[in-house]
Amino acid sequence: MASSVFLFLVGFLVFLVAAEGVGGGGRVDMSVMEQEELFGLFEVMGSLLEDPNWAQMHPLPCTDTPWPGVECEVGQETETPIFHVTKIHVGPDILTPPCKSSAQISPSLLKLPYLKTLSLINCFTKSSVSLSKTLFGSLSSLENLVLESNPSLSGQIPSTLSNITSLKVLCLLQNSLNGEIPKEIGRLVNLQQIDISYNNLSGSIPEEIGGLKSLSILDLSWNSLQGMVPYSMGNLQFLEKIDLSWNRLQGRIPSDLGKLKRLVLLDLSYNSLKGPIHENLSGLQQLQYLIMEGNPINTGIPSFIGELMKLTVLSFSGCGLTGPIPSTISNLQNLTALSLDNNSLNGTVPKELGTLPNINTLNLSQNQLYGELLFPEDFFIRLGQRLDTRGNKGLSINQQPQNKKTSTRFPATNKTLSEDHQDDDSQNMKPTLCNGNLSSNTHGLHQNFWLHSSLQARDNLS
Ligand SMILES: *[C@@H]1O[C@H](CO)[C@@H](O)[C@H](O)[C@H]1NC(C)=O
Ligand SMILES: *[C@@H]1O[C@H](CO)[C@@H](O)[C@H](O)[C@H]1NC(C)=O
Ligand SMILES: *[C@@H]1O[C@H](CO)[C@@H](O)[C@H](O)[C@H]1NC(C)=O
Ligand SMILES: *[C@@H]1O[C@H](CO)[C@@H](O)[C@H](O)[C@H]1NC(C)=O
Ligand SMILES: *[C@@H]1O[C@H](CO)[C@@H](O)[C@H](O)[C@H]1NC(C)=O
Ligand SMILES: *[C@@H]1O[C@H](CO)[C@@H](O)[C@H](O)[C@H]1NC(C)=O
Ligand SMILES: *[C@@H]1O[C@H](CO)[C@@H](O)[C@H](O)[C@H]1NC(C)=O
Ligand SMILES: *[C@@H]1O[C@H](CO)[C@@H](O)[C@H](O)[C@H]1NC(C)=O
Ligand SMILES: *[C@@H]1O[C@H](CO)[C@@H](O)[C@H](O)[C@H]1NC(C)=O
Repeated sequence: MASSVFLFLVGFLVFLVAAEGVGGGGRVDMSVMEQEELFGLFEVMGSLLEDPNWAQMHPLPCTDTPWPGVECEVGQETETPIFHVTKIHVGPDILTPPCKSSAQISPSLLKLPYLKTLSLINCFTKSSVSLSKTLFGSLSSLENLVLESNPSLSGQIPSTLSNITSLKVLCLLQNSLNGEIPKEIGRLVNLQQIDISYNNLSGSIPEEIGGLKSLSILDLSWNSLQGMVPYSMGNLQFLEKIDLSWNRLQGRIPSDLGKLKRLVLLDLSYNSLKGPIHENLSGLQQLQYLIMEGNPINTGIPSFIGELMKLTVLSFSGCGLTGPIPSTISNLQNLTALSLDNNSLNGTVPKELGTLPNINTLNLSQNQLYGELLFPEDFFIRLGQRLDTRGNKGLSINQQPQNKKTSTRFPATNKTLSEDHQDDDSQNMKPTLCNGNLSSNTHGLHQNFWLHSSLQARDNLS
């Protein structure tokens, strides 16, 4: 009770100050906020933050008493400049005051119609929070919604989220969201990035996802999604990154994905996808990362693989692959890591692999390969222990008298040993899309930064 009286007084004062500013000098040099919006902000912050005096400390949050997690912009719609709240951010870079243990998302968010960015990271850790259906009714300016690393944020993604057609970035990673992805999501035609990884989503990926015409990044990894990879994804011509790893997807990879001319990364690892892989995927001419490990592909290595000239990382570990290793893989001059381990590949190892100029990691272990490894000596030295041929009963090594036995990890020079250590750390490196460093006007930049840095992270793998 007392605090709402206080809020009223503060709002009243702001109005008085504003009136003085305008009336007194004749010139407008003091801008103000609409009372409703200011109160809305106080209520939103009050329901999030530990400090009950936040409003008292920041009575003029857009001007005289700013707080780093709140940003404002001057509206143009009236003669008198009026400030609007455009960004609310709470995260690891803004720790005081912290979120309170009973933190909630206040419905007063709806009083902030100019909000472009809402970013709440590591805020809901104890209080059970869910996303209300009505919350997203009229947030008609929201472009970036980032709710990340909130272990007590559970429940479903409301279908009403699809009403925010201004949305460009949707980051809901590392929460406890469950239920299905609402099919209405396909109405978000301006959405450029969606990351809902590390939740507990079930059901299938809706075919309607093909409506996300502007999408460049799609990350639904680490959920419990089932069913097929939707065919409609082949229509998303701006896609640069698809990560659907660690789900329960079934069926074949849609041949239509071959139409994704800009795709750089395709990670479908650890699902239940089967082969054969359609040769139309040879259309992925920008593809640098093809990560298929842990799927029952159970066919030969696709013959078109040697046409994906940009490939730098190729992993088919544990895919039940049979037959020979095609020598055309040696066309892939930019290949740095090739993982074909834990399959049923047979035949000899093409000596052409030894000519790959950039290769750093070659894992052929746990197959049925045989014959002699006809690689140049400097190839063995360069790769050291990152050439793994263990578990192939019939494989022998040329010019390595000290390593007559086949099932060997090759001794590394001191240099490669120390590099090996780095490799182990980055083995499970997960690109992060939403780092809480969103600026409402630079999502494009951010996206490029993200893609660049995540690819670099993968590069460091080798
Ligand atoms: C929001 O979307 C739902 C369907 O997802 C629709 O029925 C409803 O009318 C929309 N509400 C508003 C306020 O736009
Ligand atoms: C995930 O959802 C499934 C049902 O879909 C449920 O059985 C399971 O307990 C949930 N796991 C977590 C960690 O919430
Ligand atoms: C494969 O691509 C060709 C040429 O783009 C197209 O005509 C054909 O329909 C595609 N096949 C499938 C199964 O997608
Ligand atoms: C290989 O990588 C280099 C350097 O990143 C690049 O300039 C070149 O175009 C790539 N080659 C192919 C075939 O993509
Ligand atoms: C090898 O692949 C099989 C699936 O083909 C998988 O179950 C197993 O865990 C893999 N082993 C290793 C060591 O990765
Ligand atoms: C490889 O294994 C297949 C059976 O999976 C067999 O038909 C074929 O002859 C083998 N090829 C070689 C070169 O050993
Ligand atoms: C090669 O793959 C096997 C699993 O199939 C794994 O145990 C081994 O550590 C890998 N070797 C290297 C050098 O990464
Ligand atoms: C590798 O390290 C060992 C001990 O750390 C050292 O004795 C040896 O000279 C080093 N070899 C090379 C080639 O640097
Ligand atoms: C946010 O991004 C800017 C510019 O890219 C950088 O200087 C700053 O360190 C970043 N802040 C955090 C917390 O990552």
